[in-house]
Amino acid sequence: MRKKLKVLLVFDSPYSVPQGYDFKKEFKDVDWDTERQVYKALCEIGHRVTMMGLYNDISILFEEVKNNKPDVVFNLAEVFTQKSHFDKNVAWLLEMLGIPYTGGTPASLLICNNKAISKEILSYHRIKVPHFHTFYRDHRIWLPKRLKLPLIVKPLCEEASRGISQASVVDNEEAFIERVKFIHQSMNSDAIAEEYIEGRELYVSIMGNKRLKIFPLREMKFGGFGEDEPRIATYKAKWDYDYRKRWEIKNVFAGRLPNGINVKIEEICKRAYRVLNMRCYGRLDIRVTPDSRVYILEANANPSLDIDDEFAVSAAKAGLPFKKLIQKLIKLAFGKEQL
Ligand SMILES: Nc1ncnc2c1ncn2[C@@H]1O[C@H](COP(=O)(O)OP(=O)(O)O)[C@@H](O)[C@H]1O
Ligand SMILES: [Mg+2]
Repeated sequence: MRKKLKVLLVFDSPYSVPQGYDFKKEFKDVDWDTERQVYKALCEIGHRVTMMGLYNDISILFEEVKNNKPDVVFNLAEVFTQKSHFDKNVAWLLEMLGIPYTGGTPASLLICNNKAISKEILSYHRIKVPHFHTFYRDHRIWLPKRLKLPLIVKPLCEEASRGISQASVVDNEEAFIERVKFIHQSMNSDAIAEEYIEGRELYVSIMGNKRLKIFPLREMKFGGFGEDEPRIATYKAKWDYDYRKRWEIKNVFAGRLPNGINVKIEEICKRAYRVLNMRCYGRLDIRVTPDSRVYILEANANPSLDIDDEFAVSAAKAGLPFKKLIQKLIKLAFGKEQL
């Protein structure tokens, strides 16, 4: 692989911008931290970087590829016309154009985006996931007998805990139906109800295509919560600084786990990554119960690469500071396994 590459950095834009737009104004805003950090890292490595913010016009991608022939795409696209299920379509186009790109394949993005499909595949491979049922809009809502209360009700295809609050955990039929209706009506989304898994919440960052590397585990701690309150990563628990402070919610490196659990987590997570067809990098959100059962709650293809987010923090702890990490991801885009 040549050292200096023509890299096309593709990301989401909330509006149309002309080709060649420099995003200087946007990059001053914290909302654009990840894009700015990745752009800076790629430039500092010495690559020739072109930026492309996609909103609702895919033709600029075709033009760029035709005219400037990038060697590789660093793919940070998560939505198209603000819709998250289009993330796979962007990867699909890159695949059809024959350009190497970072992150998940269209198949893994599709599978991981849908919390039911990913769980169906995992349970087929005998990897533990919470029992669940899907509730599509316009269908009857009822409480399935085989599911044990309490349940957690979530949007079927969302991310970043959108639609998840303390009210998502329900312990009776009335609250359950109300919450499913809320997801249908207020979020305009299908819903999934899962058995609530009590336990420690861990985040497992994995990098690689065939040879996989697991970075040090992260854990979300819910210091200020009473025993009877659900300890879950709600939208507020993830993103509201004051709320996190008030309830002593912290993301830290995982403390000691019972003997043998680290190895068990590694083995299960690597298997999960493979059966879900994940590639380049990914993060699994898992829970370990007090009796040491390991459940996969969610698989994230293309998890956030923000320098302060779980993936980059874990990688840095494993001896891969941000720039090195970004360069490794580029190598993996070319199918190079050397880590
Ligand atoms: N079955 C479950 N049992 C216990 N907690 C859950 C369960 N599903 C989700 N949660 C809690 O909700 C959070 C967000 O759920 P997740 O499925 O990861 O959605 P998102 O894609 O929004 O991150 C999890 O990190 C966890 O704290
Ligand atoms: Mg999650």
